[in-house]
Amino acid sequence: MQKQLLLVLFLFIASFANAQSLPAEVKKVSDKYACAGCHLMDARLVGPSWKELAKKKYSAKKMGALIRKPKPENWPGYPPMAPLANITDAEVKVMSDWLSTIK
Ligand code: HEC
Repeated sequence: MQKQLLLVLFLFIASFANAQSLPAEVKKVSDKYACAGCHLMDARLVGPSWKELAKKKYSAKKMGALIRKPKPENWPGYPPMAPLANITDAEVKVMSDWLSTIK
């Protein structure tokens, strides 16, 4: 029983740490457009995880184009992403610079 409690506590702290691990600038953009509502660090949610996205190694320019005009055919089995037409180049750059640091 006690072990289970410890495990629950650990999972709670781990998920908290995951949510907190976004750098402030990234969190700002993610909060503004609710990216985290569909993209998690390690696991599939509505969309692919940030780690999966990082593997594509998109340039900021390419990523901006894909966020404004998603190509669901790049992600078979996922629903199409809602286009975010208003995201700025600076905001896209924050996200793509950060993605390029994820392994
Ligand atoms: C409503 C859910 C939702 C939100 C909000 C969302 N995404 Fe997505 N995203 C998806 C899904 C689903 C896919 C996979 C299908 C697709 O690309 O259309 C995806 C794909 C992507 C891709 C890959 C595009 C490609 O063609 O390879 C990138 C990059 C991305 N999202 C970044 C972002 C960023 C950055 C934000 C916030 C600014 C964001 N997403 C917000 C659901 C979402």
